Amino acid sequence: MKIDLEDVIDQVLIDEESLNKRIKQLAGQINEYYLDKNELVLVGILKGSIMFMAELAKNIKLDCTLEFMDVSSYENGTQSSGNVKIIKDLDTDITGKEVLLVEDIIDTGRTLDALKESLIKRGANSVKIITLLDKPERREIEIKPDWSGFKIPNEFVVGYGLDYMQMYRNLPFIGVLKREVYE
Ligand code: XMP
Ligand code: MG
Repeated sequence: MKIDLEDVIDQVLIDEESLNKRIKQLAGQINEYYLDKNELVLVGILKGSIMFMAELAKNIKLDCTLEFMDVSSYENGTQSSGNVKIIKDLDTDITGKEVLLVEDIIDTGRTLDALKESLIKRGANSVKIITLLDKPERREIEIKPDWSGFKIPNEFVVGYGLDYMQMYRNLPFIGVLKREVYE
C-alpha cells in the first residue's frame, strides 16, 4: 500500500538535504577527534540508527569497524518503559578500543546511560555518544551526547530510521507524527 504522507506527517522537521549536510559536519568533527586515538568502533543502535550510521560512516576517513547492538527500551509505542534489554550484542571484543555509540535520538536518556556503563565495564578505552537528534526536555537521566545533530522539541518524530510501531523508518526526512496516528 502506498503511504499517504498527509495522513501520517504533521510537518517535515528536518529535510534530507539538511540531514546530510549536518551529518557531514559531524563526521568532520569525528575525523578530527579520533585521528590519533586507538581503533575506532562505531556501534549503531538498531534499528533507529541505520540511516544515520550509514551516512556518518560514509564520511568517516579513519580506520574503523561497524558494529550493531539491538536493545529495547520502548514497548511498541511512544512511551519509554525504562528497561534496557540487550537483544543483539556486539560480535567483537572492544577491549582497549574507542567506542562511539551511534544513536538516532536521546529522549529520557535511559537507554544510553545503561549501555554506556556496560560497555565501559567491558574494557573499552573510551565510550562516547553521537546522536542525530536530542530531545533535552524529556531527559530523566543526566546524560549529554558528545556530538549531537539537532535539538528537537518534545514531539514524536518518525523517518530517517525512526519508527512508529516499526513503520515509517524508510522516510528520507524527519517528520512529526500526527497525533491522531497514536492517540
Ligand atoms: P531513551 O528514552 O532511553 O530512548 O533516551 C531513546 C530511544 O527511544 C526511542 N524514541 C523515539 N523513537 N520517535 C521515535 O521513533 C521519537 O520521537 C522517539 N523518542 C524516543 C528511540 O528508539 C530511541 O533510541
Ligand atoms: Mg532507538
